[in-house]
Amino acid sequence: MSAVVPGPVMTAAGCGGTGRELAPFAGPDGLAGLAFVTRSITLDPRAGTPGRRIAEVPGGLVNAVGLPNPGLEHFLATELPWLVRAGAEVIVSVAGATMGEYADLARRLALAPGVAGLEVNVGSPDDAGNGLFETREPFHAASVVAAVRREFPADRPVLAKLRPDVSRVVEGARACHEAGASAVVVGNAVPAAFADGRPGGLSGPAAAAVALRCVVAVARSLPAVPVVASGGVHDVRSARTYLAAGAVAVQVGTALLHDPTTVARLRADLAPSREDA
Ligand SMILES: Cc1cc2nc3c(=O)[nH]c(=O)nc-3n(C[C@H](O)[C@H](O)[C@H](O)COP(=O)(O)O)c2cc1C
Repeated sequence: MSAVVPGPVMTAAGCGGTGRELAPFAGPDGLAGLAFVTRSITLDPRAGTPGRRIAEVPGGLVNAVGLPNPGLEHFLATELPWLVRAGAEVIVSVAGATMGEYADLARRLALAPGVAGLEVNVGSPDDAGNGLFETREPFHAASVVAAVRREFPADRPVLAKLRPDVSRVVEGARACHEAGASAVVVGNAVPAAFADGRPGGLSGPAAAAVALRCVVAVARSLPAVPVVASGGVHDVRSARTYLAAGAVAVQVGTALLHDPTTVARLRADLAPSREDA
């Protein structure tokens, strides 16, 4: 495991609620020591997408949640202190409409007690329609990472979360790493559609093979860049597939919505045995 990336099991942004919902299912220690990635936090509150947000499809979900969150002030006053008291290693996912917003978030979160690291969301399936800063071009994603890195202490990790775009993910990972990302999270929900044609993102086991292709590509092309895998992890086998492909950690997202004990089981199953120690 890399020194800069907590793991080997983390929650995926937006799938562990505020932490309070997950805690009763997180095992004997609750959230203590768990790398908990928050839902993406924006400067101002966001209501999220109106109408239907989630549909089940074979092997996964299509979602268009739209990053609902209470905004930074409320997060700092309520959710963060609770997570810190629960002993979680809090990685705050940040998203912004402008580069300045990302920088502001990083500046303010650097001063908040208990923030272990940041995850920069530059990988939403549809950021243009979401009102987020457009980061489809690796250069733009890297500029956001550089702006965040400048504002956040060098001894705490900044993870860049990239979309699972097979054709550009290596370029994106290289650019974000050069811009100061301690690690890259590969990937996110895969651009998809609801049955009525509305755009959404596909997650869960149905999307795992796409994320795996991206993880393999980044791990082979950029061996010096720590990779965290996100896509369809639901049991020890799916987690080990990513670790064998070169990931230093895995994130668990959609599986938590089906079975919130998944993180606890994976933490137990992937804990180093006495013989390994
Ligand atoms: C309901 C839901 C909400 C999500 N919210 C966020 C979010 O706030 N920020 C983010 O970066 N990713 C978000 N994601 C993407 C997940 O963190 C994860 O990268 C993706 O779903 C793929 O992993 P999985 O198959 O384990 O779910 C969300 C996914 C779902 C299903």
